[in-house]
Amino acid sequence: MLKLAVFISGGGTNLQALIDACRARTINAEIAAVISNNAKAFGLERARTAGIPVFHISKIKFPAEEQYLSMIRRTLRQAEINLVVLAGYMKLLPPDVVRDYYGRVINIHPALLPKYGGQGMYGMQVHQAVLAAGDKYSGATVHIVDEHYDRGPILIQRRVPVEKDDTPETLAARVLKIEHQILPMAVALYRS
Ligand code: GRF
Repeated sequence: MLKLAVFISGGGTNLQALIDACRARTINAEIAAVISNNAKAFGLERARTAGIPVFHISKIKFPAEEQYLSMIRRTLRQAEINLVVLAGYMKLLPPDVVRDYYGRVINIHPALLPKYGGQGMYGMQVHQAVLAAGDKYSGATVHIVDEHYDRGPILIQRRVPVEKDDTPETLAARVLKIEHQILPMAVALYRS
């Protein structure tokens, strides 16, 4: 059985999609840990409701770099994690952790990478940029996180049309629906 660690920073709707997919057995996985840099992330509530162990690990809580890194590594090791999922996580995973789980760290991004990726491209900024560019399509991407972060190999991508009266919010909502579909599909590509 795949044992997932899901990293979040906010509402956790992608986490919820994974919780639901595990429960429905559409993916052969269990979420063994939810880790957030934000103690107030609503996604932590979602995890608690689902009976999943939650961990608040942040550089504020663990300012010493070594301690911060060892907290993440120990949490993943003790939960016997074999797939790390970044789902709305707003921090960079330490390179040592990316190396520990090379090829087994995946991230969901609300755009058609490699477009609209990189520094500052997250949340509404992404959708604003797509609308400003006049693109006819947007979409979501699940990719492997490697040392280049959001330039890693793409696993699944699905596009949606951009409507002429779209606002960043209406486009974000359309893309988010696709995210909830392709993230569980990407997890299903892995075997324990
Ligand atoms: C999503 O668009 C995700 O792609 C981005 O953060 C947004 C919120 O994700 N990284 P969630 O609702 O917290 O899963």
